Amino acid sequence: GSSLLGLTPPMGWNSWNHFDCQINEDLIRQTADAMVSTGLSALGYHYINIDDCWGELNRDSQGNLVAKASTFPSGIKALADYVHSKGLKLGIYSDAGNQTCSKTMPGSLGHEVQDAKTFASWGVDYLKYDNCNNNNISPKERYPRMSKALLNSGRSIFFSMCEWGLEDPAIWAPGVGNSWRTTGDIKDNWDSMTSLADQNDKWASHAGPGGWNDPDMLEIGNGGMTTEEYRAHFSIWALAKAPLLIGCDIRALDKTTKELLSNSEVIAVNQDKLGVQGKKVKSNNGLEVWAGPLSGNKVAVILWNRSSSKAKVTASWSDLGLKSATSVHARDLWEHSTTSSVSGEISAELDSHVCKMYILTPN
Ligand code: DGJ
Repeated sequence: GSSLLGLTPPMGWNSWNHFDCQINEDLIRQTADAMVSTGLSALGYHYINIDDCWGELNRDSQGNLVAKASTFPSGIKALADYVHSKGLKLGIYSDAGNQTCSKTMPGSLGHEVQDAKTFASWGVDYLKYDNCNNNNISPKERYPRMSKALLNSGRSIFFSMCEWGLEDPAIWAPGVGNSWRTTGDIKDNWDSMTSLADQNDKWASHAGPGGWNDPDMLEIGNGGMTTEEYRAHFSIWALAKAPLLIGCDIRALDKTTKELLSNSEVIAVNQDKLGVQGKKVKSNNGLEVWAGPLSGNKVAVILWNRSSSKAKVTASWSDLGLKSATSVHARDLWEHSTTSSVSGEISAELDSHVCKMYILTPN
C-alpha cells in the first residue's frame, strides 16, 4: 500500500454488512447522496465502498473485469465520477483467488497488474481484497502482488487486505497493505463484536500511520445490538484505530444511529495524528479499562462493563501510565461534559455492557 495513504484510519461506508449481494448503482449513488446530506461526509466519512457482487461472472475478450450489466449498467467509471463530484472517494472489491467469495465474479489472482490498471482507469480510490478460492497459496505471496500492482497502477489506491487474520498479518502486512483484517467476519451481535475486539487487540503494537489493524466493519444501525452495545462497538473501534466503515443503510438513518456515528469527539480519537492503537490495559471479571495515548500528552480511556450485572469500573493512573501526582481534566466524550480536576483514578458505576469514554488532559 502507498505509504502516503491511510495516515489516519480510513472512514466511510461499505455495502456488505447490510446489503450482502443485493447491490446496484442506484444504491451506491443514493448512499453517496446520503453521506453528504446526513453530515457524515463532513465528519470525515469519505469512502463509498462497493463489496462483493458488482461484476459479471466472466471477463471480457481482453480479459478485463466487467461491471454487471443488470445492476451496474452505467459502469464503475461513471459511478466513480459521480462519487467524486460529491467530494467522496470510491472503493471497490476483488479477491486474491480465482473467484470472489460469492462466486458470482472473477478474482484477481494471476490478473493483478491488469486489474489494478482497470481500477486506476476507472478512478477507484480504495481496493478491498478478499481471500476466497485461493488455491491454497499463502497470503504472504498473493497480497504483495496486488500491493505492487496498485503502486504501479498510476493512481493512489488504498489497499485494504481482507485475509481474515490468517498467518498473523500484523507481522508481515505493514508495508504491504494500508489495513489488514485481524479477524474473521463480524456478526451483528455482542459476542461477535467483543470477541473481534479482543482478537484485534493482540496486534496493537503493529499498527500505525499508513497501516492499521482491521477488526472488520461496523454493525451499528443494523439492529442486532442494543444502543449501549453499539456505543461500545463505536468507542472501542475508535480507540483501537480501526477503520470506521459504516455497515448500515445510511439512506434511512434513525436518530440514535446517527448520533452514535456522528460523535465528532470519538471520531477525533480515531483520527488523532499520533496514530497509536489504544488497547486493553486492565481486565477483571469483565470489568475492563482500554486506553491509549493521543497527541498533546492526552490519554483516551474507556471504562467498560462487559459483565452481566451493574458494577463500578476504575482506571487508576498506574493503569494509564500517568504519574500518581498528575491532575487532569476529564472530558466525557458521550456526555460532552468536562470535570476540571481529577487525580489518582477515574471510575464510573456502569450497567451491564455499558461503557464510558474520556479524554484526560494533564492540567
Ligand atoms: C468475506 C469478507 O470477509 C466479507 O467482509 C465480505 O467481503 C464477503 N467475503 C464478501 O463475499
